[in-house]
Amino acid sequence: MATTNGPLLSVRDLVVRFRTHDGTVHAVNGVSYDVAERETLGLVGESGCGKSVTNLAVMRLLPRPAGRIEGGEIRFEGIELTKASEAQMRDLRGSDIAMIFQDPMTSLNPVLTIEEQMVETIRAHRAVGQKEARDRAIELLRMVGIPNPEARLRSFPHHFSGGMRQRVMIAMALALEPKLLIADEPTTALDVTIQAQVLELLQRLTAERGTAVVLITHDLGVVAGMTSRINVMYAGFVVETASTPVLFAEPRHPYTVGLLHSMPRLDSPEGEPLIPIEGTPPDLRTAPVGCPFAPRCAWRLPRCWETNPSLQPLVAGVPIVTTGPDVTHRIACWNPPTADEARLGRPLREGFVPAPPPGTGGAESGPGADVVVFTTEGDGPEGGTAAAGQAPAPIVPGRPS
Ligand SMILES: Nc1ncnc2c1ncn2[C@@H]1O[C@H](COP(=O)(O)OP(=O)(O)OP(=O)(O)O)[C@@H](O)[C@H]1O
Ligand code: SF4
Ligand SMILES: [Mg+2]
Repeated sequence: MATTNGPLLSVRDLVVRFRTHDGTVHAVNGVSYDVAERETLGLVGESGCGKSVTNLAVMRLLPRPAGRIEGGEIRFEGIELTKASEAQMRDLRGSDIAMIFQDPMTSLNPVLTIEEQMVETIRAHRAVGQKEARDRAIELLRMVGIPNPEARLRSFPHHFSGGMRQRVMIAMALALEPKLLIADEPTTALDVTIQAQVLELLQRLTAERGTAVVLITHDLGVVAGMTSRINVMYAGFVVETASTPVLFAEPRHPYTVGLLHSMPRLDSPEGEPLIPIEGTPPDLRTAPVGCPFAPRCAWRLPRCWETNPSLQPLVAGVPIVTTGPDVTHRIACWNPPTADEARLGRPLREGFVPAPPPGTGGAESGPGADVVVFTTEGDGPEGGTAAAGQAPAPIVPGRPS
């Protein structure tokens, strides 16, 4: 495998579509991000926003024939995966990039014993004999806390509880010491106590091995504890990216602000009510035009209905760092909330009213209005990003103290 000085994984302008009888699903609409060696990136967003599809594209495991990568590049250690042959991808999967799915039964073969599956995986990628591969499988099961691993090797997947099956999945995913592990909702099917144990195990084992991790989850509490950086996705776009502490302390995209206000947090003042995000995500069978969050956004301006802002640094002109603790905080928004507004979860500018959809004659339309609209990408937040007629709000990224 080639090595480079760049990031381990580099995704640029990724576009994924599903061509279905029902129309074209615009699942991923130009997503770019990097993952450095040993880094842990969280991917959050509501159901259907493209988290799994983005990562299935990286693994080149999109359901065919409907799912296609229709644009962009995916480089892993400098190799362009969108152009790699099936044989190259088979080689890479498991050995360099591994994926854990929410439901292990989708990845474990129900008619083979754990021994058959683990030994086969190890031998497919390593020049080792049967006994050596079996010993390695036992060692791996012991490592993930499966009691009596010699005997359990002979079990079938359905003989394990949900938590134990997920541990087996982790053992299989780490069997070949991949450089990147993609964990797609690895614990949501488990009860809360088991979830915590499995996540703790995943975190410890990947940290010990220096494995880079992309952790996909609905649960902001999970990413808070397990990741160093977060991408927030909405309707197939990354709408905010920042280091985990910065994202929690200073969210600046209205959708992220909404997400944070809709979940219980340990640091919320006592008695503070949760505020659900009104409305629903757009139907991705409609071509994405305008800001996809506009129908639900309390900060929207007239231009939000017309052009979709691209991901830009909060402070124009700063060099963009895409990985590591000093990653540049970027948002895709024409009119970001100020820090005070983000804290309260609503605009505080006197007299500000979210722009009504065009053609409604100026009629008021609050968040949740059921409208989907318009054209293509613009060029990011404007200096000042203020509501029409308002003084620009100063926006300065920073680290929480
Ligand atoms: N096989 C498929 N055929 C058609 N559309 C699909 C298919 N798989 C996913 N999609 C669509 O692609 C979009 C992105 O789906 P994806 O599974 O990535 O969402 P997600 O963010 O992972 O959601 P969840 O949190 O529910 O897992 C959705 O609109 C979904 O309906
Ligand atoms: S202010 Fe405009 S660009 Fe920003 S999230 Fe709201 S609708 Fe989208
Ligand atoms: Mg998913």
